[in-house]
Amino acid sequence: MPSELFDDAEFERFTRGIRKLWNIDLSSYGQRQLHRRLRGMMSRGHAETLDEFLVYLSNNPAESELLKDRFTINVSEFFRDAHLFAKLEKMLGPGGECAGARKVWSAGCSYGAEPYTLAMILSDTGRGSDCQLYATDIDQGVLERARAGIFTERDIRNVSEQRRQRYFKANDDGTLTISSQLRPRVLFAKLDLLAPGGKQPMNCDLILCRNVIIYFTDEAKAGVQQMLVRSLRPGGVLLIGATERVPDASDLGLQSMGPFFYKKVA
Ligand SMILES: C[S@@+](CC[C@H](N)C(=O)[O-])C[C@H]1O[C@@H](n2cnc3c(N)ncnc32)[C@H](O)[C@@H]1O
Repeated sequence: MPSELFDDAEFERFTRGIRKLWNIDLSSYGQRQLHRRLRGMMSRGHAETLDEFLVYLSNNPAESELLKDRFTINVSEFFRDAHLFAKLEKMLGPGGECAGARKVWSAGCSYGAEPYTLAMILSDTGRGSDCQLYATDIDQGVLERARAGIFTERDIRNVSEQRRQRYFKANDDGTLTISSQLRPRVLFAKLDLLAPGGKQPMNCDLILCRNVIIYFTDEAKAGVQQMLVRSLRPGGVLLIGATERVPDASDLGLQSMGPFFYKKVA
């Protein structure tokens, strides 16, 4: 049985290669879990060492893209963790904490289910055009899918029948296209949360960053969370994933509003 962690020098070579190939910095990922995931992927590429695996990825662009998708994990769906969106809907509605939101950011938006969910909620609360929705991801492929706005039945399984009728058009191949009324409401852009380079939206009323930083090291997680807090306006709200937490919320200037919701202290 090979030991779980790779040799340092070999791993360093691989990290350099992957930075060029996938534009992803592996050193920001939790190492034990990362090495385990890489071993799983290597077996698919019939590679025994990371050097061989890098050559395999470089020579097989399609497979490389597929593994990159698996690596970044683009899993999403509309109204993911529906109870959190029920709470968010109340907060965005009249008299709610985020009622006047004008700038909302879905950070790590994958193929668009999350920001379009927000667009639906905003539209149904009579707020739509006066609120700008930003949606960013590191992966250009998912952003292209998001802009196309084509989804599967599985993606929309948590969408109510009424919203389904209002916001989707069924295609002949069984897929569904998001309404042309919602699509222009979301501004999609590529952004690496680990290296935003000052391009992140600022002064946001609401930020969703869910199921994105789960595999990062504690240090990288903390760095992203600090950056997100800086991007909120005072009083703005951060919503994280249903398995996540902000360990040092008050140090970051956040106040808990109940599970998974945090408010930036004014
Ligand atoms: C599991 S999806 C989450 C999608 C959505 N937020 C949700 O909860 O349904 C994680 C997304 O984070 C993106 N991602 C991973 N690392 C990232 C980084 N450093 N910067 C920006 N996005 C990243 C991936 O490309 C992927 O689309």
